Amino acid sequence: MVNLHPQSTLLGAVILARHGDRLEFFQDPLTYTPSATSLTPLGTVQELQLGSFLRATYLDPTNPSTFIAGISPDLVDIAQVIVRADAAGEGSVIQESVNALLQGLYPPTPSFSITLANGTNVVGAMGGYQYVPVESVQPNLDISLNSFTSCPNFDLHTQAFYNSDEFKAKAQAAAPFLQALKPYVGNRSLDFINMFNIFDFVNVEMIHNKTFLDALPATFAAQAYALANYHENGVFTDGKIDGIGNVAIQTILPSIFSSLTRIANQSDPLKLALNEISYKPFISLFNITAATEKNPEIAGIVDYTSVVSLELRASPAGPPMVTMRFKNGTAEHTFRPLSIFGKADIPLSEFIGRLAPAAINSTSQWCQACNQHVLRGCSGCV
Ligand SMILES: *[C@@H]1O[C@H](CO)[C@@H](O)[C@H](O)[C@H]1NC(C)=O
Ligand SMILES: *[C@@H]1O[C@H](CO)[C@@H](O)[C@H](O)[C@H]1NC(C)=O
Ligand SMILES: *[C@@H]1O[C@H](CO)[C@@H](O)[C@H](O)[C@H]1NC(C)=O
Ligand SMILES: *[C@@H]1O[C@H](CO)[C@@H](O)[C@H](O)[C@H]1NC(C)=O
Repeated sequence: MVNLHPQSTLLGAVILARHGDRLEFFQDPLTYTPSATSLTPLGTVQELQLGSFLRATYLDPTNPSTFIAGISPDLVDIAQVIVRADAAGEGSVIQESVNALLQGLYPPTPSFSITLANGTNVVGAMGGYQYVPVESVQPNLDISLNSFTSCPNFDLHTQAFYNSDEFKAKAQAAAPFLQALKPYVGNRSLDFINMFNIFDFVNVEMIHNKTFLDALPATFAAQAYALANYHENGVFTDGKIDGIGNVAIQTILPSIFSSLTRIANQSDPLKLALNEISYKPFISLFNITAATEKNPEIAGIVDYTSVVSLELRASPAGPPMVTMRFKNGTAEHTFRPLSIFGKADIPLSEFIGRLAPAAINSTSQWCQACNQHVLRGCSGCV
């Protein structure tokens, strides 16, 4: 891994992780209202691998350039770690994923033990399994990790994208391919606005259905993926960083700011904040930080178990600096650096200062930004 400041100390990180392999997931292309699905055994393996990767990166004291200074590496200190998971989209997939990830991050350890009054030493259940608390972010109580549903202004933005000349031209160019795909997708709608669901069906079947995998022509999966990337990138970005198209990350920004600020404060124990989410906030994050300018290939649907880490480093003679790193699913084994506003790293104060105008800090701000007056806690606000 590239280390920008070999002499600097890693103070901590805010991590955004996507869930693992799941079964087919339908979401309404107009409102992004989700259907339920479940994490597969493969998904648990992928998330465990992601947790082990993060453990090897951040919790290995023999690797001082990426070890988080002062973090308890084996026995979790729950004052040092915050874990939150989206409980809204995709049924329980994201909740299940975070638990598998945590097993790789803080695996069972015989150090989780205690000596009793009568002299007996007891190791925790299942060889010292560590029960890390996870905040389940319920969409009707907390809009932060899933802010793009029940949001009328976001739906208008999505409609405007579908009605744009650019979208219509793309739909026209995609039409012959979608016709060729027709025999493989059952009775699913081949309207280009349904492109996420078309791609998701192909992707899930490719992984789980041998007959489908053997029958599908070689280039079709990649073609469907590229079209879905275009589609989702248009839905979950905006020409302005504070535009509603970026709402998926705007509501996560406050917790990113507060976690990084706490990590910078040496008298605060927090070192690691983990957020388990869907693919949507990744797209918006890459748009508002302009990371896609240097790395246009990241615009779109990140693979299952992708991870972004916002690392905070103490510089020897300057302010703490934020760097952003990304790993695209289990196919990749190292982080790649991403730029933030065109730079390899950026002072924390500048990171917050430039992104704060896009942050949605409360439910009432969200109700206003979305023009929602009834659902998700909005009936109390105006
Ligand atoms: C000590 O206490 C534990 C918990 O009550 C019990 O399971 C264990 O059998 C005791 N050991 C002895 C030697 O009494
Ligand atoms: C697997 O794919 C084939 C070919 O598309 C299809 O006929 C079959 O119903 C699929 N099986 C399952 C279990 O979905
Ligand atoms: C953010 O997304 C908008 C809308 O898709 C696009 O026009 C803009 O160029 C993107 N910004 C960057 C920095 O890539
Ligand atoms: C992420 O990984 C998938 C599967 O390996 C690949 O198809 C896709 O192009 C990758 N995306 C990026 C941005 O690397």
